[in-house]
Amino acid sequence: MAHGRITGWATHLPERILTNHDLAELVDTSDEWIRERSGIGARHVDGKVTEMSVEAGRDAMAMAGVDPSDVDLLLLATCTSDQQFPASASVVQNELGMSCGAIDLNAACSGFVYGLVTAMQFAEGGVETILVIGSDALSGITDWTDRGTCVLFGDGAGAVVIQRSASTPTLLGWDLMSDGSAASILTCEHGGKIFMNGKEVFRRAVLALEAAATNALERAGVTMDDITLVVPHQANIRIVDAALKRLGIPMDKAAMVLERTGNTSAASIPLAFVDALDKGRVEPGDLVLMVGFGAGMSSAAAVVRWDPPGA
Ligand code: ACO
Repeated sequence: MAHGRITGWATHLPERILTNHDLAELVDTSDEWIRERSGIGARHVDGKVTEMSVEAGRDAMAMAGVDPSDVDLLLLATCTSDQQFPASASVVQNELGMSCGAIDLNAACSGFVYGLVTAMQFAEGGVETILVIGSDALSGITDWTDRGTCVLFGDGAGAVVIQRSASTPTLLGWDLMSDGSAASILTCEHGGKIFMNGKEVFRRAVLALEAAATNALERAGVTMDDITLVVPHQANIRIVDAALKRLGIPMDKAAMVLERTGNTSAASIPLAFVDALDKGRVEPGDLVLMVGFGAGMSSAAAVVRWDPPGA
């Protein structure tokens, strides 16, 4: 029986960069405060989910050597669709020249891992080629007068092609969770801006990351020591640091791009993962732990055995 594996990957960031110094001209803040409290130095803004997704999706398919007409399913993880409907996935599917089912999937910042786990189930079920994209444009729903939130967010997209071509499973364990009782601490109404109770999100995020990672590792039948690379949601360096400490994982195992991207929601994990791949931090056979949390409060983790084509 064949199993799904990642055969192509790519990311895209919009051109305009907003540094902490730029933000200090908008609100009462400083580069020092933002770096110390969040680990963020700059973020890309003015992105559109469909445009960023098309760029990342096209490059991921090119890398996999997959023709758009061969894609059987598009899963687009986003919480900032360009319009209420149609789904951004439908727009992207058309612009990329694909002829297949296409849906948006909203699990906020956990969206990419939700999409990856879902795609792997489709692959197990017999679907040959799936494009998974995590793409968000939080700059469009950021209140640029609120210093408590505007310093954190940015835009971006990351995409992977999943093909049913591995001889043994590559998704070894996963955990998907949602705690809707905490939904009110991080919300955005239709037409509104992000509202966040930062302290409460912080507290819950650390616990959610720990629980999701622990559950996925347990289901994979592996321990922290077996993991080569951890790809955490890039929300705040202090959240990542606290969660990894609780898990007993050294910080140097983490893939981090937060300093130059800010929190890009569903794009953050693929952005950090692809950056780590580009730096040669993952070898065939290595185990990667992806773990995220977000509005909902959603959380998700996946243990992936790295099995690139040609390995
Ligand atoms: N610049 C300067 N001062 C600031 C800023 C700023 N940008 N923002 C807040 N402050 C001030 C506050 O007003 C407060 O001042 P006061 O003591 O006079 O009242 C002081 O700094 C401390 O504020 P805190 O809120 O206690 O700061 P904290 O250390 O908790 O950091 C932060 C705030 C960065 C928002 C943190 O709570 C956090 O990261 N929370 C989680 C955010 C998160 O992960 N969100 C995304 C989740 S998922 C998703 O992306 C959808």
